[in-house]
Amino acid sequence: MDNLLEIKNLTVEYNNIKNSKASSITAVDNVSLNIRSGEIYALAGESGCGKSTLSKTVVKLVKPKSGEILFEGKNIYNQTKEEKRKYPANVQMVFQNPYSSLNPKMKIGDTLSEPLDINTNYSKNRKKTIIKQVLEDVGMSESCLDLYPHEFSGGQRQRIAIARSLVLNPKLLIADEPVSALDASIQAQIINLLKELKEQRNLTILFISHDLNVIRYLADRVGIMYYGKLIEENIASSIFNFPKKEYTRTLLSSAPVLNY
Ligand SMILES: Nc1ncnc2c1ncn2[C@@H]1O[C@H](COP(=O)(O)OP(=O)(O)O)[C@@H](O)[C@H]1O
Ligand SMILES: [Mg+2]
Repeated sequence: MDNLLEIKNLTVEYNNIKNSKASSITAVDNVSLNIRSGEIYALAGESGCGKSTLSKTVVKLVKPKSGEILFEGKNIYNQTKEEKRKYPANVQMVFQNPYSSLNPKMKIGDTLSEPLDINTNYSKNRKKTIIKQVLEDVGMSESCLDLYPHEFSGGQRQRIAIARSLVLNPKLLIADEPVSALDASIQAQIINLLKELKEQRNLTILFISHDLNVIRYLADRVGIMYYGKLIEENIASSIFNFPKKEYTRTLLSSAPVLNY
């Protein structure tokens, strides 16, 4: 399997100013990992270990201090004009909180067509067809197009946010704690949806969660982060059945077992 994304020796620092003193923290510390085309790679670890920071560097929301990120073999911080233009369509992100990630003042139809309006010159009809298809893919009906986000439940909103992330037909979807704000029963539905989408659309997914139960059900491979470092990585069954690091065992033993 080819690598869709390669992260090499990635280090990210934040510079903070506290009481007029400058200090810096290393949020991601020399991390290297590869994500293969068509797999679900899960990044796990406690809050504050650097998962979100790592994912933000992949969508260029945060700049690394050092290291390289290659998408389809090309450095994302050294792209041609054309590659730069196409990049947002290739890599899309879904966030934790569907209450804040959808614009409350925009009808769902406009929310779904916005990425197409900005990034493509598709005809009205073509956009309509795409929107119809993504809604079907996430299990929502077309009747939602004229409604506003507040008219939906958390789970439905997350489906809509996922639909929005799919309209440009990305190759890589980054889902940062996408079910952490949802009730357990709804979590299972969204997890199943991601699994289906992976198959249907041949999507590659970087799935971020502090919850190993969710990861156990979903991931092909798992990376464990601890204080900015990737301390263990393996196929999911090995991580869960034969964890190598003491920290991974601790994480596993603190996760209650749920069945989806
Ligand atoms: N914008 C920021 N400015 C300064 N420090 C930050 C910022 N975002 C995150 N951090 C710090 O970086 C570290 C990693 O955070 P984060 O990537 O959000 O971890 P996680 O997603 O695993 O919870 C934490 O110590 C956090 O406090
Ligand atoms: Mg986070």
